[in-house]
Formats: sequence, structure tokens, C-alpha cells
Amino acid sequence: MKATAKAHTNIALIKYWGKRNDSLILPTNNSLSLTLDGFYTETTVDFQDSLTEDSFFLNKEKINGIAYERVTLFLDLIRKIADKPNLFATVHSTNHVPTAAGFASSASGFAALAAAGSKAIGLQLADHELSRLTRQGSGSACRSIYGGFAEWQQGTLEDGSDSYAVPIAEQNFWDVRVAAIVLSAKEKKVSSREGMKRTVDTSPFFKGWVDSIPADLREIKQGIEARDFEKVGAVAEANCLKMHATTLGAAPPFTYWNDITVSVMQTVQKLREEGIPAYFTIDAGPNVKVLYLPENEDKIVNTFRHLPGVTDVIVSKPGRGVTYTTEDE
Ligand code: DP6
Repeated sequence: MKATAKAHTNIALIKYWGKRNDSLILPTNNSLSLTLDGFYTETTVDFQDSLTEDSFFLNKEKINGIAYERVTLFLDLIRKIADKPNLFATVHSTNHVPTAAGFASSASGFAALAAAGSKAIGLQLADHELSRLTRQGSGSACRSIYGGFAEWQQGTLEDGSDSYAVPIAEQNFWDVRVAAIVLSAKEKKVSSREGMKRTVDTSPFFKGWVDSIPADLREIKQGIEARDFEKVGAVAEANCLKMHATTLGAAPPFTYWNDITVSVMQTVQKLREEGIPAYFTIDAGPNVKVLYLPENEDKIVNTFRHLPGVTDVIVSKPGRGVTYTTEDE
């Protein structure tokens, strides 16, 4: 009862920021992302009757503590669906997500774990069912089931059964690029889980954020359909700024930005003044992701490689959805 799956990370253009149910991971708004080919996790799950507990290895190292707990709690969900409560697994994961790039490896990690785990135990899940399961590991991961653009529909039901991602446009629909601008200075991190909870509980700006989502989603979906890069970029950048504005209103206030983050943002805006269409987005950390079109790749890479405080620029194309390695079958 063994299976291997590979899942890519994704970058949100309309952010998921806020939960209405913390334990089921139900969001307060729909979000929309692009899956990226440069960053992925490959995971093998091997269920065996002889095991008395789960074990988890990440990049060949045995993991204990909170990261192990999250994996074993997630396997509990799979065991429950499969009605095999006493079947334990050995999990081997390899992350091809440079942690320095500031991409949440939890997105590719939980998508790969959900895919490999559900297949290994014998479940045959449709994509939306796999996305719904993945959501309960880490919210943003539910979008990584699909390649290209995907939308996580928040759903309305209290049990979360209608909260999962759906495909918007496949990997080959449009070659939009994303450069991860890696910064030297690392701030003390407020995790996305903690940051969004503090924002929901205390920020007076949170309501304004939630209220602004439907219009952003409408516009970005029109932009994707028309392959209108300026439209998609402008909506994504503004949406990111609104998300980050909510953290300044939280108690205690916090920000994920540092001085170099702001310098990268200003450089993106300067590039636009020079006629290069480029837009930024930022998740729960100081690094910046820049959206651009393939013909401007050299200009983007050269500009940011030479910016003080930037240690690396890692470029990515749209990526594919979850895939399985067949040799385990
Ligand atoms: C800022 O998916 O990491 O990257 O559901 O608590 O595991 P949990 O949070 P997570 O949050 C991601 C937040 C974000 C925006 C996004 O990816 O949409």
C-alpha cells in the first residue's frame, strides 16, 4: 500500500487571509493562485499492517515535534475516510522548494502528502475531493492540486464540504512568469497561521479586506480569460497591498516587510514607469515575487540581481497539477 506523488507550490494572486473555522481550515474569502513549475515536493507514503505508529522523513531526516504532529493528524483524516483507523505509514518527503525563496513548502507538501496518502490507502478521489482533503492540512495547499490558475472557493457549508479549489485555466493557457526575489535579511517570522488569526481577531481593517474580494476576483478572472497582463498584475498587486495593510491594524501590529522588501516594491513600480510591465506580490514573509512576461525575463533578472540586499532571483513558469509516480502500483 505504497504511492508516490509530486505537487508544486503556488503563489496567490488573490490572497487567502483569514479563517472562519480554524480547525476545519475554512477561509473567510475565495482566493486565486498560479501553480509554479520551479518548486515542488515529492512524497512517498507506505502504509503497512506491521507498523504501530507513523514516521515522517523530510529530505531523509527523521522529523519529530510539531511538523510530525501535523503529518500524523493529516494521515488520521485519510485513515478516517478509508475506515482503516489502525493502519500506519512511513512517509518520505523531498522538498525541491528552496526555503530561502520564501515559498510556503506547506502548500506543495500537503498537496503531495494528500495525493500519495489517499492513493496508497486505496481511495480514488476526484480532484475536488482531493483538494477538499488537502485543505485540512494547509489552506493554500488545496490550490496546488491543479496546474495553472486555480480558485479556492470558500464554500458556505459549516462542515466544509463545499470548500475546495477548482481549475480556472490550465498550465499551458498562458506563459506568465514569476521571479522569487530572495532577500538577505531575515526578520523574525510571524507564521501565516498566527498572522491571519491575529488579523481576524483584532484588525479593524479586516472587514474592509473581506468586502473588497468579490470585485478583485471578478476583475482578475476577466483579466486571465483575456490574457490581459496589466489587468491581472494590477489587481494582484493591489490585493497584496490590501492584505498586508490589515496586519498594520492588528493588535499587536506587525508587518512582514523590511527595508529591502520596500526597495524591491519601488523598483517594480520604477520598471513600470520605464514601460516594463511588472507587478509584485508578497506572502507572509519579507521576500517579493515579481510577475512578468517571458520577453522581459533578462531585464527582470538583471535588475533584481543587482539590487542591494537581494541574494538570489529564482524564476518560474506556470506549473502542473499533482502527478503520481507509477512504479509503486
Ligand atoms: C499569505 O495556507 O500557510 O500565503 O491554512 O493556516 O496552513 P494555513 O495557512 P497557509 O496560508 C497562506 C497565506 C498566504 C496567502 C495565500 O497563499 O493565499
